[in-house]
Amino acid sequence: MVEYKVRDASLAAKGRLQVEWAEMHMPVLMSIRERFSREKPLKGVRIAASLHVTKETAVLVKTLAAGGAEVYLAPSNPLSTQDDVAAALVEEGIHVYAWKGMSVREYYNAIGFAISSEPHITLDDGGDVAGTLHKLALGISDESTKYALETAGVRDYVKLVKSVLGGTEETTTGVIRFRAMERDGKLMYPIIAVNDSYTKYLFDNRYGTGQSTWDGVIRATNVLVAGKVVVVAGYGWVGRGVAMRARGLGARRVIVTEVNPIRALEAVFDGFEVMPMSEAAELGDIFITATGDIRVIGLEHMLKMKNGAVLANTGHFNVEIDVEALEKNSISKREIRPFVVEYTLTNGRKVYLLAEGRLVNLSVAEGHPSEVMDMSFSNQALASEYILRNAGRLQPRVYRLPQEIDEEIARLKLASMGIKIDTLTEEQARYISSWESGT
Ligand code: NAI
Repeated sequence: MVEYKVRDASLAAKGRLQVEWAEMHMPVLMSIRERFSREKPLKGVRIAASLHVTKETAVLVKTLAAGGAEVYLAPSNPLSTQDDVAAALVEEGIHVYAWKGMSVREYYNAIGFAISSEPHITLDDGGDVAGTLHKLALGISDESTKYALETAGVRDYVKLVKSVLGGTEETTTGVIRFRAMERDGKLMYPIIAVNDSYTKYLFDNRYGTGQSTWDGVIRATNVLVAGKVVVVAGYGWVGRGVAMRARGLGARRVIVTEVNPIRALEAVFDGFEVMPMSEAAELGDIFITATGDIRVIGLEHMLKMKNGAVLANTGHFNVEIDVEALEKNSISKREIRPFVVEYTLTNGRKVYLLAEGRLVNLSVAEGHPSEVMDMSFSNQALASEYILRNAGRLQPRVYRLPQEIDEEIARLKLASMGIKIDTLTEEQARYISSWESGT
């Protein structure tokens, strides 16, 4: 029997069309699905996933189910679920606990629901399923474990965590957390850092977030980007995509803020202005944080901003803009449009916060385009298979997927686009791997 809690199961037909649309744009993952359907490599495997419940995730989850897995799906953000897609997945026999606009308690109830499946594999985007499971095993009590226990039930979490074969992690922030757990000797099963595949971060983080972040900002505000001063905090893979697309949309100035001197230098050489946030604050019309860090825009910055400044975050957690300080230090607050809240500061100026400071592309728009998730989720599907194939051989550490898998995904993607590349001749292969020959 399918266990589920979604907003409205009658939205399934609408959701199915969305999923079909995504499937049409995800040829690599669909070819993996075809193989999985034949070979059933995940037969009898229970998977607990915390992923943004989007049409692209639906394509992944259906692929895992085609491979024989039983999937329990929780969201990876309280605001990112597409309710019609969640309903469509229930119809497909997936256990789903997700709706758009969950409270923190409901969100961790969803994580607990995924854990209640007693998974063989965990799939994460931000580390909440594996992270909460580890906290439960370690006896750590906080908001996440308190609410997760309401749905996960009382069990032997030490035994459970030891029985998990492995997990995957989709995003930079999650990978950083699992590496920190490994460093502190707390990681209890292997994690495949899907984010670290080239076919993931070079495309998803850069081009996917680059486009979809602007999609979110524009859908929320409908402001004209041309002629604006845009401030991008962080020049990692996400930040460079957001900055690049700001320029493409005609921003008059694109300013980057950084803490890493190499990344700052790259931004300068890419033709962007670089300065501290304390200076950029006075100049920007639109601010977008993409650092994975905390309080990158604080009250001291907001008080310097122009009247009408727009603030958005596209990093994983809602900690990059100090929303708490904004709440405490505003004279008034009102929702002026969906996902746009106007705060009047003590200096009388108004700033506009999008999507409560949660990742704007997934909260307001639809997340990354399917074409880019095709590669990210092919990595996820193959990582699940890799965990099973290597069960017992992997240590409780953070691993990358082998380069052959990464390159195979790129090869399939190129083929799906009808793009051919050259192959090394024998002579070339010998030459570039030798040290003897020169001029
Ligand atoms: P990254 O590690 O490549 O880049 C982050 C950059 O921020 C680094 O260059 C770092 O030096 C800089 N930074 C850190 N603290 C800063 C501060 N206080 N001020 C200015 N710069 C600072 O990470 P990546 O891949 O670019 O990811 C960034 C965030 O976006 C992460 O939280 C990640 O999980 C998230 N993400 C969100 C996606 C979405 O759909 N919205 C998609 C992919 C990643």
